[in-house]
Order: sequence, then C-alpha cells, then structure tokens
Amino acid sequence: MFTRVLTLSALLSASLFAGQYATTVKPLYADATSKKVIGKLLPTAEVEILKEEGNRVLVSISGYQDAGKPAIYYVAGKRILNAGFDGKSGVEFKKNGSEIVDGKTYEKVSVTAWTDKTDLTSDVAPLYAKAKDLFSQNCSMCHGLHPEKEFSANQWPSMFKSMAGRTGIDKKDYQLVIEYLQKNAKDMQ
Ligand code: HEC
Repeated sequence: MFTRVLTLSALLSASLFAGQYATTVKPLYADATSKKVIGKLLPTAEVEILKEEGNRVLVSISGYQDAGKPAIYYVAGKRILNAGFDGKSGVEFKKNGSEIVDGKTYEKVSVTAWTDKTDLTSDVAPLYAKAKDLFSQNCSMCHGLHPEKEFSANQWPSMFKSMAGRTGIDKKDYQLVIEYLQKNAKDMQ
C-alpha cells in the first residue's frame, strides 16, 4: 500500500514538473486568487509548473531580457516574446547569466507568476501544426505563399499584422501564428 502511494505521488510530481506550453495568450497574476492581470504569457511559450493552488498554477518562465524591458524573450537578440509584464507589476527578474549578440548583452532571466490551469499542454507539436495550417491556408489565397524563411524573426510580427486582417484567421490565433512564423524565420535554425 505504502509503495503504491509513493509511486503515485512520484508519477504526479513528474507530470507536474514537466515542461508545459501555453496554447493561447494567457493572463499572468501575482498570486493564486488576484484578478489583477500583471502580464501575458504567449502561446507556445514553455513554462515549468512549480505548484498548484485552486484553479491556478505557479509557473516559472525563462528566457532573455533586453535592456531591462519588462519582457522575456525566447532567444537573445530577437523579439520573440515568451511573456510580457506590466511595467509597474513589480515582478522580480532573477538573473542567471548573460549572452552577447552583436555586441549587445542580454540577461538570462526567469520570473515566477500565477496563471489559470487551463490552456496549458505538454505537447507543443500540435500547436505549431495548427499555426502552420492557418498560415499556409489563409496566406496563399490572393498570392503565392510567402515562405516562413522570407522574413526575419523581428520582421514577421508587423508583416503578419499588415495582412492578417485580409484573412479569415481568428484574432485569438494571431499570436500563435506570429510565434510560429518567428520561430521558423530566416534567422532562426
Ligand atoms: C485578400 C487577399 C490577401 C490575403 C488573404 C493575403 N494577402 Fe498578402 N498581399 C495581398 C496584396 C493585394 C498584396 C500587395 C501589396 C498590398 O496590397 O499591400 C500583398 C502583399 C503581400 C506581401 C508582400 C509585401 C511587400 O511589401 O513585399 C507579403 C509578404 C504578404 N502579402 C504576406 C501575406 C501573409 C503572411 C498573409 C496571411 C496572413 C497574406 N499575405 C494574406 C493580398 C492578400
């Protein structure tokens, strides 16, 4: 009996601590109950779940910071957002190293914040597949598809937004497609 309980809790904690990915733009909060939104987690951004309370989870978000901006980027030197915070939110960016890209230093950081348990998945592949479908089906209606590699990670958001209104892509999926395009841009491996 005792070993069974142990095995179960080991299993539970394994799934609790495995990487999870936001499926949509998710509000971030300072604690487990507050309704005040202090930031946003972007679709496909990876988080680590640290604990669970009620309908919320405390997550750790890692990435890079650019010149003290209240945001966490996926890689150093490119504006691919993992999360963005209200400048007055007072969240603590824990620094654990830095990276230099084109002579500019980017701090490696992590932040903890609360978010609702919903709209998180352990499998990111279907999210990228959905984004790729939305992009290739909607962006080839009036002209040939402009491939992912035509633009850089920093160029894609404004390029996509200038065209998205002409498509049937649901507004709630814009950020998902943008993340997909940026992560597959010409200056990404
Ligand atoms: C309803 C028709 C239509 C749809 C749908 C459409 N486009 Fe376009 N696109 C155009 C037209 C027309 C132009 C020519 C320039 C203009 O009108 O702005 C263009 C131009 C472009 C260009 C060239 C711009 C430049 O400055 O060289 C790119 C890149 C592009 N579209 C990407 C996209 C993407 C990405 C999507 C999907 C989000 C998309 N388009 C969906 C009509 C469309």
